[in-house]
Amino acid sequence: MTAPGGRLQRLEPLPARLLATPLDFILADHHRHRVLCYLCEKLADAGEFDTVLAALVADHIETELMDHIFDEEQDLFPLLRRRAKPEDDIKPVLAHLAGEHADDEKRATKIVTGLRRIIAYPDKPMSAALQRILRKFAASERRHLALENAIVIPLAKVRLTAKDQADLSERMAARRRARLADTAGSEDDAD
Ligand SMILES: [Fe+2]
Ligand SMILES: [Fe+2]
Repeated sequence: MTAPGGRLQRLEPLPARLLATPLDFILADHHRHRVLCYLCEKLADAGEFDTVLAALVADHIETELMDHIFDEEQDLFPLLRRRAKPEDDIKPVLAHLAGEHADDEKRATKIVTGLRRIIAYPDKPMSAALQRILRKFAASERRHLALENAIVIPLAKVRLTAKDQADLSERMAARRRARLADTAGSEDDAD
């Protein structure tokens, strides 16, 4: 699957070692968000529904995208609120981004539900409403991560201490360990 410009567009897992430098991990995750946006638009525009791609997108939203939003909401943004100086004027930016997270989470839930429904009943065409939500999610997400890349990450690189970044790294790693343990637990229950 190749995007305009010839770059491969896949939702590849990020290397776990990148978690040691959590701000780089977040930046790499933002690149995957661009891929996710491209794939959402591809699903919305496709003449024929691609169930494999739809499942990939739904799974990614439910797992890694949610991890990312929690990384920022629960860890990165609170750290930055504490460390930023008044002249950084970052609090309104973080409040705006938190509002966008809430909107994106609502759209993401609708996308996952809509895609899973079509996967279960592939004879039904995609509704115009779901196509609209997929396109809107992609457009909104692109603006969001451009703002984070331009303002939030550069400021965090300057203001967060080495200890902050080590704590952030540990929290992000723990979040992923907990999700994987939950998944393993539910798969055992299903056996
Ligand atoms: Fe965000
Ligand atoms: Fe982000």
